[in-house]
Amino acid sequence: MLRTVPAALFSSCFIAIFSFFISVANANPKSLEGIAAVAMPDGYSADVASKILKDGGNAIDAAIAAQFVLAVTFPEAGNIAGGGFMLIKKDGEHTFLDYRETAPADASRDMYLNEDGKVIDNLSLYGVLSVGVPGTVDGMWQLHEKYATLPWSELVKPAIDLAESGFVVHPKLAKSIEKKIAKLNAEEFKSQNIWVNFADYFQEAESEVVFKQPELAETLKRIAEQGRKGFYEGETAKLIVALMKDKEGLISASDLQNYRAQWRTPLQTAWRDMTILTAPPPSSGGVAITQWLNMFDLTKERLEGDLEHNSTRYVHVLAEAGKRVFADRAKYLGDPDFVDVPVPELTDSEYIARRAGDINVNEISNTEKVIPGLSESMDTTHFSIVDQWGNAVSNTTTLNISYGSAVVVPGGGFLLNDEMDDFSIKEGVANTYGALGGVANEIQPNKRMLSSMTPTILLKDNAVKLITGSPGGTTIITSVYQSILNVTEFGMSVEDAVDTPRFHHQLYPENTIWHHPGIEQETLDDLTAMGYELGEFPFGDLHMIVAGDQTYDAASQASGRGKAIVFDAPTISAKQNNEY
Ligand code: GLY
Repeated sequence: MLRTVPAALFSSCFIAIFSFFISVANANPKSLEGIAAVAMPDGYSADVASKILKDGGNAIDAAIAAQFVLAVTFPEAGNIAGGGFMLIKKDGEHTFLDYRETAPADASRDMYLNEDGKVIDNLSLYGVLSVGVPGTVDGMWQLHEKYATLPWSELVKPAIDLAESGFVVHPKLAKSIEKKIAKLNAEEFKSQNIWVNFADYFQEAESEVVFKQPELAETLKRIAEQGRKGFYEGETAKLIVALMKDKEGLISASDLQNYRAQWRTPLQTAWRDMTILTAPPPSSGGVAITQWLNMFDLTKERLEGDLEHNSTRYVHVLAEAGKRVFADRAKYLGDPDFVDVPVPELTDSEYIARRAGDINVNEISNTEKVIPGLSESMDTTHFSIVDQWGNAVSNTTTLNISYGSAVVVPGGGFLLNDEMDDFSIKEGVANTYGALGGVANEIQPNKRMLSSMTPTILLKDNAVKLITGSPGGTTIITSVYQSILNVTEFGMSVEDAVDTPRFHHQLYPENTIWHHPGIEQETLDDLTAMGYELGEFPFGDLHMIVAGDQTYDAASQASGRGKAIVFDAPTISAKQNNEY
């Protein structure tokens, strides 16, 4: 029986996550030198990223170009007016770029509540009031200044060409656009009088037909010529602010001018004989996968190994771990620039052991008793890249639900995010992913909203072992930790690791497990007998790269429209060649 799967899990949260991983020459095993790999959400981004690497660019160059291409060819989640997180391994440095959106300066805690204190449906999800101050262009600009080797304008150019000359619309994209337009045209949505203009821009995007976006091409040209100023100042900023004034949104010229992406230290922990590098707050994902993977190991030890892949006990134990993970998420996680997030305590081995220790491996625990332990389709997109020098980037980027706020900036041709819904808009009220939040994630001016995006890299002996990431709102965390277990615990090929059925539990809805099709009926019957409610839902779109002895293996989840390529690339950079 399918029940209580939040609507966003089906239709919406488009987070474009792209990950790319680059490892440096001194950390890259000799056998992998000269080999590069990309695992991308669509063919256009895969072809552009691989061309940049073949031309002697590095993984960061490839990532910047891919991010802009996705804003054209992957409108569900690719963006210039959204945000994301990027994990980077470059020349022995591990860094994390937080280009998450922020609340406008005029935002306030109760802005989505009516006079009776009730949440107004859809106001944080659609229309100009749902939009956070975009972070993507500043993020890519800062990234370029710090690590790129190719000129900025060269990296934006492939996106300009695809917007100007058009791209052929994939049947899956055409179907998704059709579904979104039908939703926005339904009486249920229209009766709310939230202004959106998605259909005006996207109704001509037909399956297998070339789709051109001339206004977007002009915006991209301004960005190519002026860098961050081409978005946050001048004509593009004027267009955004005019829209906000006209439709009573909150984003001002100074919100745009003041936005800055932040460099943060990745969350780094030892796990087995590897190092997990993953997303720190304002992502909840890094803390969550650290807790989840360690609770798995501890429970396996207690059961002396009896945790077969996708067996009833495996699903149950990981669901129980998930209850604990999501109880902590709701209570403690938020923007670290505004609230104290107790990351060391939440990832402490004794604390995790205590949390794992009370998992009853045979019975479901009472949800209400799983309280925080110290005294968020889900559309997003992800890509992973490793270059010929072993540098790696794991990037997840999003507009939040598919096509964000469904508002396109008139004259600018780009979609605005609806990331404000990732705040806790009222304590105890779930967001579109069914995730509860508390005070730590309440709305405050200029604050970043909590995220589940979890771009992750596993290192072994300081070299890239694995790069993973996925879209999917709160299910991102599950896709990431299960993809890691699929490779490291169950020895699966990268193709199997991204395609094998997964399952997800997040405390609420109570005792409910969402699962991919393909889990054995006997297991599903056993879980139902234990008291679980089951809902079939094919969440996520993993893009993963795994280092082997002689080469990389890369795969994109077959249910999406992704493309993974492993190829030989020159170890002389374009810069050394004076090609640019
Ligand atoms: N917008 C979904 C997330 O950041 O988790």
